Amino acid sequence: MTRHDEQFVRYLHAKETVDDRALHRPTLAHLIDLLEERAESHPDEPLRVVSVGSGTGSMCRRLLSWGVFDAHDEIKYIMVDRKQGMADQAAAAFAEWSHGAGWTAEPTTDGFRIERHGRRVSLTYVTSDLFEAMTVLPKAIDLVIAHAVVDILPLRRAVESLLSRLTDEGILYAPVTFDGRTSFRPAHEADDEIIAAYHETMRGDERAGPDTGSDLFSVLPSLGAPVVAAGGSDWVVHPPHDDDERVFLDRILGFVEESVIESDRVDDETLDHWLKARHGQLASDELAYIAHNVDVLAQLE
Ligand SMILES: C[S@@+](CC[C@H](N)C(=O)[O-])C[C@H]1O[C@@H](n2cnc3c(N)ncnc32)[C@H](O)[C@@H]1O
Repeated sequence: MTRHDEQFVRYLHAKETVDDRALHRPTLAHLIDLLEERAESHPDEPLRVVSVGSGTGSMCRRLLSWGVFDAHDEIKYIMVDRKQGMADQAAAAFAEWSHGAGWTAEPTTDGFRIERHGRRVSLTYVTSDLFEAMTVLPKAIDLVIAHAVVDILPLRRAVESLLSRLTDEGILYAPVTFDGRTSFRPAHEADDEIIAAYHETMRGDERAGPDTGSDLFSVLPSLGAPVVAAGGSDWVVHPPHDDDERVFLDRILGFVEESVIESDRVDDETLDHWLKARHGQLASDELAYIAHNVDVLAQLE
C-alpha cells in the first residue's frame, strides 16, 4: 500500500464513528424486517450478502454488532474492493474486532469463519473491480450492500450490475450515498467557489455526480427495484473533536484539495488561503462540517 492508501485506511477507520451516528435507523429497521421475512420464507438457507467497495469491512462488523442479521444462523458474506492491500487491512480489522466481540475466528484461504452463540459467518474477501466480480458471482445474492460508494461509480451501470445477481425479491442497501450538499463553518468568503468546484469534480462519465442520493430515487425504480425505505444520513462533525474526527476532517480537507487542484477551476491563491483557514480552524477545534447523504433501501419487484 502506498502512503496515500495508508492515509485512506486511517480515514476509513476514523469514519466509522461518524457513520455510526449518521446511519438512518428507520431504514435499517426496515432492512431487519425484510431479513426476518426472508429467514421465515427460506428456513435452513444461509443469508448471502455481497458488499461492494467494502473497504476495511466496517459495515459488516457494524451490522453483525447491531444484530441486523440475527434472524439468520448462517451468513455468507463476500466483500469486494478493487484496492490492492485492502483485504489485508480488512483481515486485521476483523481479527481485532472478532476477538473483542467474543466471536471465535478461524482464518480460511480468502477470509475468516467466525462463530458466536450458534451464529456462523463465512467472510470472504475478493480483490476485484465490482463490475467484474458481479459477472462471476452466481445469481443467488439476497442482499447487496453498497456503502459510501455508489456516488463514485457510473450510476446506471453500477445499479444494473448490483441488481443483476440478486435473487427474487433481493435487496439493495446503499447507505451514506452523497447527495449534493457540503458545508463548512465558520463561513469563508471562498466557500461557494470552492464547494461548487469540488461538487463539479464529482461529475463525469465514470462518476454518478453530486446528486447521486436523489438520483437513486429515479434510477432504482426504472430498473425494477423500487425504493422501500430511505432517509438522511448526514455527516455532522462539530467541535470539540475527538482524535477520529480530527483524522476524518483532515482527510475531507485533503479530498477537497486534491480534487479542486485537479479540476483547475479555482486559482491557487484562493485555494491555499481557504485551506490554510480550514486547517487552522481544525487545529484550534473550531471547524464544523456537514455533508448531506442518504441511505436507500430497494427491493426487486
Ligand atoms: C469511500 S470508500 C468506502 C469504503 C467502505 N464502504 C466504507 O464506507 O468504510 C470506497 C471504496 O470503494 C472501492 N471502490 C471504488 N470503486 C470500485 C470498483 N469499481 N470496484 C470495487 N471497489 C471499488 C475503493 O477502493 C474504496 O475502498
